[in-house]
Amino acid sequence: MNISVIGVGYVGLVTGTCLAEIGHHVTCLDIDQGKIKQLNQGLSPIYEPGLEELLQHNLSKQTLSFTSSYQAACKEAEVIIIAVGTPSNTDGSADLSAIKNAAEKIGAYVRHTDTIVVTKSTVPVGTNKKIKAWVSGNLKQNVQVMIASNPEFLREGSAIHDTFNGDRIVLGTDDSKAASKLQEMLKPFRVPILHTSIESAEMIKYSSNAFLATKISFINEIANLCEKLGANVEDVAKGMGMDQRIGHQFLNAGIGYGGSCFPKDTNALVQMAGNLHHKFDLLESVIHVNAKQQVKLVEFAKKHMKEIKGKTAGILGLSFKPNTDDIREAASIEIINALLKAGVRVTVYDPVSQDKVKLLLGDSVSYAEDCFAAIEDQEMLFIATEWEEFKVLRLSTIAKLMKTPNVFDGRNCFSLHEAKKTTMNYYSIGRPAVMNHCTEKERV
Ligand code: UDX
Repeated sequence: MNISVIGVGYVGLVTGTCLAEIGHHVTCLDIDQGKIKQLNQGLSPIYEPGLEELLQHNLSKQTLSFTSSYQAACKEAEVIIIAVGTPSNTDGSADLSAIKNAAEKIGAYVRHTDTIVVTKSTVPVGTNKKIKAWVSGNLKQNVQVMIASNPEFLREGSAIHDTFNGDRIVLGTDDSKAASKLQEMLKPFRVPILHTSIESAEMIKYSSNAFLATKISFINEIANLCEKLGANVEDVAKGMGMDQRIGHQFLNAGIGYGGSCFPKDTNALVQMAGNLHHKFDLLESVIHVNAKQQVKLVEFAKKHMKEIKGKTAGILGLSFKPNTDDIREAASIEIINALLKAGVRVTVYDPVSQDKVKLLLGDSVSYAEDCFAAIEDQEMLFIATEWEEFKVLRLSTIAKLMKTPNVFDGRNCFSLHEAKKTTMNYYSIGRPAVMNHCTEKERV
């Protein structure tokens, strides 16, 4: 099948490459010519495990190509997938200007009647109807398009794996011909397909992300209580998760969720509800809990160290989660800003996202060449992302390298048993503090 993908951001690039991998002819379009040039050379502009290999494989098979020309992308396409960004407006609502622009361009260049325009971008409920109007407004006489919603559920860092092993594909369309053609297109992924109306498909995406975000804020609030009550949130989560109605996933307490989806989608859903005069109290609390959780470790440090002004801190991990270079809405940035505001000198390290942080924070912080350089001689150490290379470090080595071993672990990377065998003060999330360095055995 001839497929075009509009937008080679994270979603578009992974989707286009995987569709080529299952045998379709895919043309990906982006208005950023620099990106297109890079991609045509087989270089991925984003860090995603396995993506570059698949990209190069399909470029060499000529099943995948990249262009900036709408004419080239739309001419032969049977299916056109819109995967452009929908960033947040200042009020939390989704900015649809890139979607509108793409839809109008598609309308102007599409030539095949019965081309299916599929929206993969996360858009407020009701947007696909607008997309149909934007496309149709520019169509040539006698050309008609069908519209479908196919939200993505890919996790950054495991997006290729998720594409081939997803729990479900959601296809929302009111057109049975479009439904069966898209089902045929997606069949090789061997993932169960749920057919719904367009509105329900749009809503499934928002409610899934809002629910997962709720699970995270819920366990983080339980963690906050565990700290006060002397319980261990990891055991609590394990005990809860053994109930199959609850399940084990997304019950890892930490310094909150970040990334390109959860913060944006939860805010957009609150905004959508507000537009309908419905106050989404539960989700507003989820967002509020997350904002507090992101800077919780700095509050720990202030409480324990009494005075942090003038002290030094190392930060391990900058991306919003491991195996990605994405720093959007990352807790690390909130922590760094709070520390800088408090007069702390900060040195950061991340295996892949350091360059992105440099663009954002410039020389307000120092950049370490490796994790050891970020630990050495520090008075405080904050772990913001659970990269594997941090988890294999020995706490005793960390304690020896630091000037005063105060470790604030936002991702519970180490066992309390190991922490107890060191000379450090070790604070984690939802677990009792381990105070070896301090003479005063106060609890945080
Ligand atoms: C998410 C959804 O999982 C995916 O289905 C959707 O389409 C896009 O958004 P992603 O943002 O890539 O994917 O990351 P995810 O693995 O879901 O993690 C999001 C955030 O939640 C991360 O900051 C992570 O550290 C945090 N998280 C996740 C927790 O704090 N605890 C958990 O138990 C799970």
